[in-house]
Amino acid sequence: MTTSPSAGKRVLVVGFGYLGSRLTRSLHQQGCQVWATTRTPDKLPSIHQAGGHGVLLDLITGQGMEHLPRVDAVVYCAAPPRGEAAARRRLHGPGLRRLLDHLNASPPERFVLISSTGVYGPQEEGWITEQTPPAPATEAGAVLLEAERMAQQALGQERLVVLRLAGLYGPGRVPYLRQLRAGEPLAVPQQGVLNLIHVEDAAEAARQALGQPQVPPLVLVSDGHPVPRTDYYAQVASLIGAPPPRFVAPPPGSPKAQRATGSKRISNRLLLRALAFRLRFPSYREGLAHALAPVREGGE
Ligand SMILES: NC(=O)c1ccc[n+]([C@@H]2O[C@H](COP(=O)([O-])OP(=O)(O)OC[C@H]3O[C@@H](n4cnc5c(N)ncnc54)[C@H](OP(=O)(O)O)[C@@H]3O)[C@@H](O)[C@H]2O)c1
Repeated sequence: MTTSPSAGKRVLVVGFGYLGSRLTRSLHQQGCQVWATTRTPDKLPSIHQAGGHGVLLDLITGQGMEHLPRVDAVVYCAAPPRGEAAARRRLHGPGLRRLLDHLNASPPERFVLISSTGVYGPQEEGWITEQTPPAPATEAGAVLLEAERMAQQALGQERLVVLRLAGLYGPGRVPYLRQLRAGEPLAVPQQGVLNLIHVEDAAEAARQALGQPQVPPLVLVSDGHPVPRTDYYAQVASLIGAPPPRFVAPPPGSPKAQRATGSKRISNRLLLRALAFRLRFPSYREGLAHALAPVREGGE
C-alpha cells in the first residue's frame, strides 16, 4: 500500500454533512487525525463512528469556537439548511469570517474551501474552465463567490484551494424517486444539462486537494460528462423500475425555470491533470447505479 499524502495530518472538517461525513471517514482511513464539526449533538456518535473527533460548532452564533483544535489543514464544507437564504448569507459571510479570524492566530498549511459551480451563470455556453469569469445568476452563487474572495484575502493563494463542485449526488441524494414511482410528472425543465459529481468522488477530490503538495488555487470538480436532464431522469426511472418520466413546466420565474435553457458544461480537465485524479464514477450511469443500489435492494 502506498502512503497517502495526507497521512499523519491533523485535519478539521467544518460541516459533517453529506460531503463532510464521507470526507471524515476517508481521511481517517488514510491515517489522518480528524476533527469534524456539527451543530447537532445527536450527530456526535456518527462522527465517532467515522473515526473523527466531534466538535459542536455554530459559526453563525460563534458557539463552540473555543473547542476548535490547532490543525494542519481545514476543509470548509458547511452549508445552510436547504432554502434558508438568510442563514446562507450569515454562514458564508460573518460565519466564515469568524472562522478565518480564529485561524489567523495559527494558520493551517492548507484551507480547502468547498464552493459551487453556481458561481457561473446558467446561460454560459460551451465548456466552463477555471479561466471562465464567474457571473453568478443566483444569490446563492453570489454569496459563495464573495466567500471565496474573503478567504483569498485572509489566506492568500499559498494556503487556499477553492474547489467549485458541480451538483452533488449519491446514495440518499437522488431527487423525485417518489414521484417517479407514482408516475407523477416532474416539475423540472426538459431542456438543459446537468453537471454532476458523485459524493464519493467529491470527497476524494477534497482529500487530494488538502494532501498534495502542489495544487492549483482553483479547481472545478465535476465528472466531465454533462447529461441532458431528460436522459438523467429516464435512467433513474429505469433503475428503480418506474415508468418513463413525464415532465411539466416548473412555475415561470422559479429558480428551476431559470435553469431551463442552461447548457453550461463544467470541464474537469484540470482536476484530472493537476490532482492526477481518477474518477470512481466517471458519469451519471455508473454513479446512479451505485447511488440507487440500496433503493433497488429495498433498503431505502
Ligand atoms: N449539494 C450540492 O449539490 C452542492 C453543489 C455544489 C457545492 N456544494 C457545496 O458542498 C458543500 C457541502 O454540501 P452538503 O450537501 O454536504 O451540505 P449538508 O449535507 O447540508 O451539510 C452541511 C453542514 O454544514 C453545517 N452547518 C450548517 N449551518 C452551520 C453553521 N451555522 N455553523 C457551522 N456549521 C453549519 C451542518 O451542520 P449540522 O451537522 O448541524 O447539520 C452540516 O454539518 C457546501 O459547501 C455546498 O455549498 C453542494
